[in-house]
Amino acid sequence: MKTENRPNRHGYHTFTLGAFGFERDEYFAHVAWTNGRHLMQIDAFLRALQRDVAWGFFYGVVNFDGVIGTMNHYGTVDLFAGRFNAHYRKAGLDYVETFETPLLQRVFAAMLEDWTNAAFDPFASPEETGSAFGPKNGANKRAITRHRVTARRMVGCPGDETTRSDENGFPINRHFADVGQEAPDVEPEPGFENEVVAFNLFAYLSRSDVTWNPSVVSVCKASLYCPTTEEYILPVIHGNDRVEWFVQLSDEIHWEVEDRDSGAPRARVVMKAGDVAAMPADIRHRGFSPKRSMLLVWENASPELPDLYASGKMPPVPVEF
Ligand code: PHB
Ligand code: FE
Repeated sequence: MKTENRPNRHGYHTFTLGAFGFERDEYFAHVAWTNGRHLMQIDAFLRALQRDVAWGFFYGVVNFDGVIGTMNHYGTVDLFAGRFNAHYRKAGLDYVETFETPLLQRVFAAMLEDWTNAAFDPFASPEETGSAFGPKNGANKRAITRHRVTARRMVGCPGDETTRSDENGFPINRHFADVGQEAPDVEPEPGFENEVVAFNLFAYLSRSDVTWNPSVVSVCKASLYCPTTEEYILPVIHGNDRVEWFVQLSDEIHWEVEDRDSGAPRARVVMKAGDVAAMPADIRHRGFSPKRSMLLVWENASPELPDLYASGKMPPVPVEF
């Protein structure tokens, strides 16, 4: 998959995948395909790439920006340029190639590893990481291969994902110094210790060391609670293939909501602590969080949903007013 075994003059390897080529220099990721080319600033590119890799291509579309991205078909993945850009489409300049998921996963993971320097952590907020720029300078494998929290039942259940503490390497974040850390009292009847469990979600989130990275903290059939801590800008523009619910647990996030296919603006939504929103199945969105905030993303992971929405059998909104 690497075009050349030797790095380029900046020290980075070049990657090819089908008709797509990826190269990095000191400031930019350059992407080329059969009939076009594009570039993105490298810090933004690596932040987007990190999420696409860590999330296994997520739900629906992960736009790195208005041109480049991936669309998950749960088994295969489209890598595209201009596919969800009305102007590229109109000009006939959009390009899509479909890959088996493991292949794209491997190439993206290798690119992320090769292009991330020692000082840069793509999951961290800009205030909490060093520079992504410059010639090749070491690596940061620990940051880019963090454990992804995916509870089987719930954080804190016996044998499941554990809660966070100073001792296991998760100090309270500077923006959440005022968040209470007391744990709930739980008094299960003998024999039910495995069934009756509780944890302090605010305390758990106050100790998150990453931004814009939903963790699965509880699972009830297809209903997944995926809270996350947000600061600065969501590194991807997420194109939904189902409805997602947002519950703003603290502080404030501004959402830019656009038509999923064309990118035409649809709404700006300012969510303050306590606000709840349903993001429709036919939009894409990007969040802006002026200070670190807590957001609950509630996902319905039912595999039949994308087809139900795509075929029009289900309306793209859960309620009509
Ligand atoms: C989303 O696209 O819905 C999303 C992704 C990552 C987050 C929050 C929301 O941290
Ligand atoms: Fe989303």
